[in-house]
Amino acid sequence: MTTVEARETVDPFVPERDSRWYRAMRHFWHPVAYSKDVAEGQMVSGKLLGERILVVRHEGTTRAFMDVCRHKGAAPSLGWVENGCINCPYHGWAYDMEGTLVSIPSRPELNGILQLGLVRYLCRESSGMVWVSLTDEPWGDPPGIPEWDDPIMRWQTPPYYDWATSSPRRLENFVDFSHFPFVHENVLGTRDKAQIEEHDVWREDGALRFDKVFVEPNVDRMKEMLGIDEDTMSVRNWYQLTVPGSISLVRTFPNGKRYALYMVTAPTGPATCRNFWHIGADFTSTADDMDFLLEFEYMVLDQDQPVVESQWPEHLPDRLSAETYVKVADDITLAYRKWLFELAEELEPN
Ligand code: FES
Ligand SMILES: [Fe+2]
Repeated sequence: MTTVEARETVDPFVPERDSRWYRAMRHFWHPVAYSKDVAEGQMVSGKLLGERILVVRHEGTTRAFMDVCRHKGAAPSLGWVENGCINCPYHGWAYDMEGTLVSIPSRPELNGILQLGLVRYLCRESSGMVWVSLTDEPWGDPPGIPEWDDPIMRWQTPPYYDWATSSPRRLENFVDFSHFPFVHENVLGTRDKAQIEEHDVWREDGALRFDKVFVEPNVDRMKEMLGIDEDTMSVRNWYQLTVPGSISLVRTFPNGKRYALYMVTAPTGPATCRNFWHIGADFTSTADDMDFLLEFEYMVLDQDQPVVESQWPEHLPDRLSAETYVKVADDITLAYRKWLFELAEELEPN
């Protein structure tokens, strides 16, 4: 065994901040807030890749800046918006909607002379979220949700949730079928049916796609909502994963009714993520029905969180060989990592 191999065996992980995939994350769009949470003339703060982000809505349009005042580094998002300007709460320095410093209340004669500005980022709204890119030429577009504009889908947007793990770990958990019988025993699977059957996973039109039919228990409330009497039913689960962190799942029941779950995980740091989501259905008729579906999702999340946060290291190892993949059961994980790592190599060649 060579020295290099020996060292890799003992210490296979590069420090998390230096991971190539983590550096590559700067090249993508990520959500930092829900659109509905940024009212006209208001600011919200978010976090992306260790940077504080300020989002403000002005005349209907959202803009994003580094949430760091050029004076002494306070967070302008804690201040106020007035006359089309962002005002820092500490000493009242005011920045216009381009981020340019326009007023220093303690030394007004310097107004217009001190050429400074907030760092501005690209900002877009899509699918009910505010997306930010930390680079000027991001890879791709913010991913859309095909069913978002479908008039018969009723959507609900729960609060985002933070997990103490990296965003790829969070995403992988969402598409990992073989944990169902263990983490979600008798909810999404049973241990006597732990074996995963062959399923296709392929890349098409900028997304990793796969689908799977599960035979699932049909509980009373669902029977009522769906109008399906059987105790078990076959449900087609159709997934579309977009790198680096979004996943759309559409579940189609035997009568053609659909339930949609959309989640996008944003890297707030190398080992932390913020997860935005929407749930939609075309068979609910009351707010209670939606609450029932949402409660189910919260139960599943509560089961997942401690296990996923226990994964070490929290960030993805940079080398594919640092973890073990079993055929079929881990096909999706492997396909996702391969794609992520390919892009990381392309976007961060050094
Ligand atoms: S830190 Fe913002 S005005 Fe002083
Ligand atoms: Fe899970």
